[in-house]
Amino acid sequence: DTLEGFIRRLPKAELHLHIEGSLEPELMFALAERNGISIPYASVDEVRAAYAFSNLQDFLDIYYAGAGVLQTEADFRDLAMAYFERAAADGVVHAEIMFDPQTHTDRGISFGTVIEGLLAAMAEAEARLGVTSRLIMSFLRHLSEEAAFETLAMAEPWLDRIAAVGLDSSELGHPPSKFARVFAAARAKGLKLTAHAGEEGPPDYVHEALDVLGVDRIDHGNRALEDAALVARLSAEGMTLTVCPLSNLKLCVVDDLGAHPLDRMLAAGLKATVNSDDPAYFGGYVLDNYRAVAEARGLSRGDVVQLARNSFTGSFLPPEDVARHL
Ligand code: HPA
Ligand code: ZN
Repeated sequence: DTLEGFIRRLPKAELHLHIEGSLEPELMFALAERNGISIPYASVDEVRAAYAFSNLQDFLDIYYAGAGVLQTEADFRDLAMAYFERAAADGVVHAEIMFDPQTHTDRGISFGTVIEGLLAAMAEAEARLGVTSRLIMSFLRHLSEEAAFETLAMAEPWLDRIAAVGLDSSELGHPPSKFARVFAAARAKGLKLTAHAGEEGPPDYVHEALDVLGVDRIDHGNRALEDAALVARLSAEGMTLTVCPLSNLKLCVVDDLGAHPLDRMLAAGLKATVNSDDPAYFGGYVLDNYRAVAEARGLSRGDVVQLARNSFTGSFLPPEDVARHL
């Protein structure tokens, strides 16, 4: 059995996936045509050529522009269905997908259009592909906390269909503490909490996500490794980190995959998982991420099994569902 076949057949959960980041250039063109929208690219090759980023903001500018082709409920359903098909082919059996409502509501697309399209795909994925899923509603941290509160209010009719809130977009200058009140409000409504922290931001932002927001998971968390006391704490608390190797490479969080810290995270006792983040932009889905980092860092099959186990124990599934996957 090859390593690739071994990883593919291992049931896995994906915990860090922005659905807008799964928009492949081919679908971007198809939706632009279907909706009569012009995009600033002449071909799929030209789109892919534009995906050369030197940091998070470079990527975000292109990612928010790309999302402009998403207009109707059918667009969001098609987007999510394409992701589920691809994830299922990689052996993903459960996915916790983030969506950024503000990216759409701020350009006149209703919250209902976005979420109803995603929910339709989630129901189809479970029925036809056997892939279960949950939704994570992410707030854009470059916008105000007041705007996040408005988004939480818009979500009210669908709160029983949303598992958690998250925090994404430009990290530097927008620490977790900026969102202390809205995360407390989300928790009071029974939602789980996660936040991007320590991707570009300092270890202090990871401390804030834990102490001020009280998160259940940390998205990325790479820079926690700069703080030995923080590593010890994350390890002792069994805090899940949703690590994204190919994203880290494309956004220059690491210089090359040979220097990726995933195996050092595992060795330090951290509950790391492997995820694709924005697969259409970063060059690979979950299987590509496992394989690339396993080859670059010489991970054993035991390490790979540990990563897959972590993806279920770190999920927002109830304990009986987690147990069923172990
Ligand atoms: N970091 C921050 N915001 C994001 C990301 C990311 O990796 N992907 C999509 N929005
Ligand atoms: Zn992310």
